[in-house]
Amino acid sequence: MEKPVKKILLLANGGREHSIAKSLKKSDKYTVEIYGFFNARNPKIIELTTDFVINSERNFGEDTKFKALQDFAQGIKNLDFAIIGPDDPIGAGAVNALLEVGVKSFAPKKSAAQLESSKGFTRSLLKKYKIEGNPEFKNFITGEEAELKKYCTEEIKEKFKFVVKDDGLCGGKGVFVQDDHFATHEEGAEIALDILAKSGKLVIEEKLEGPEFSLLCIADGKTIIPMPTIADHKRAFDGDKGPNTGGMGTISFPNKLPFITDENIAEAIIITEKVMKAVKEETGDDFCGVMYGGFMRTKNGAKLIEYNARFGDPEALNGLPLLKSDAVDLFEYAINQKLNELTVEYHNKATVCKYLVPEGYPTNSVKHEIVGVDQALLDELSVEKHFAETGEYAGVEVFYASVYEDENTGELQLGGSRAIGVVGIHDDFKEAKKLADKAIKAFSGPLFYRKDIGSEELLEARMAMIA
Ligand code: AMP
Ligand code: GLY
Repeated sequence: MEKPVKKILLLANGGREHSIAKSLKKSDKYTVEIYGFFNARNPKIIELTTDFVINSERNFGEDTKFKALQDFAQGIKNLDFAIIGPDDPIGAGAVNALLEVGVKSFAPKKSAAQLESSKGFTRSLLKKYKIEGNPEFKNFITGEEAELKKYCTEEIKEKFKFVVKDDGLCGGKGVFVQDDHFATHEEGAEIALDILAKSGKLVIEEKLEGPEFSLLCIADGKTIIPMPTIADHKRAFDGDKGPNTGGMGTISFPNKLPFITDENIAEAIIITEKVMKAVKEETGDDFCGVMYGGFMRTKNGAKLIEYNARFGDPEALNGLPLLKSDAVDLFEYAINQKLNELTVEYHNKATVCKYLVPEGYPTNSVKHEIVGVDQALLDELSVEKHFAETGEYAGVEVFYASVYEDENTGELQLGGSRAIGVVGIHDDFKEAKKLADKAIKAFSGPLFYRKDIGSEELLEARMAMIA
């Protein structure tokens, strides 16, 4: 019998979106047609599409209130739904724009997306609805400079160290942590005043201590389905040194990360369920999409660092390849608020994901340089081959991110941000790391990666953070 066709619009063309596209195309139940709304020619995603457009506008059409996106969606006959990958278009209302032309999305509407686009909104929401997991915090807006200074240098000085957070989306560059970015309360106050002058809104919050973990949950406003817990490595260089990045790599284990407890996961799930309901209560909109919670294991249990309103990048590269259930169903059931009817299964494996990034990343990346690929090696290591030969779900998955194909030469070139993500998958964590390291060798060019992600030393360092 012929499989039903599902037509899906995919917005964006990074590593996260490549992993989304691959998970969709793996569907056994449906023939999936992907329609890409992209801003670069990522050849490996394009391979998976039925059609695509390259849109040159910033943030995928935010500049024109998503007119080009609406036009593209309307040009696809019988489009089933859209998936919006990145935070910027979600925060700017891409989902609302598509609804105006009758297209539903797997992603939250603008109001519900405030969970990511306004850090103050989220902190206030937890407080108002008496949801556990908040550190001490206070929001400030323009006009409250004197109060801000007094709060930082007097009120909290003897009580706790603090973190300054720009309220809005800053691509990971709007957070300043005491001891990491500034030493004294007075220095922190100066940074806070600077940010307030620029952005008009910020949060001051208590600095928490402990290892961090990500819990991504698929949400429909009523039900959440958690993914395996994952840990990111944000610093650019080995040993957790250097500037913050979008994430240099991510790890997961069978069952759970070794440096957190089952109780921590249960706490994070309860917080996420309560926050989902509070979002509905507060905004009137159901949260449909991914509630990606960044948590810290503190001596007082799991505390919330932040929510993102989308899949993590690279977290999606670990989580989606482990999905055993049908990805189309997962996203469509979420859109139709039927997640309670779905049982979702994951392969219970370890994953080690590493991003190859351009030399100079993140501050001064080389661009447009050529990347060489040993495709034969990648094919040899692939999960697909290993699974076909042995029936064991293990091997390597590769995701292209900020790379593009030169239209004239056909060469693969660097776009300037994180370039290629490789993921080792295995029952055994050490083997997963070895697989990722082998796959890295398939690429040549002015690139670097973090050798230590997945190492014993780093795991021990995370264990040592447990207060
Ligand atoms: P965010 O953009 O909120 O995820 O913050 C970026 C990073 O800053 C986090 O991954 C943490 O390492 C750190 N951070 C944020 N908030 C806190 C906090 N309250 N206490 C300690 N570290 C924090
Ligand atoms: N991995 C960090 C992020 O997606 O925000």
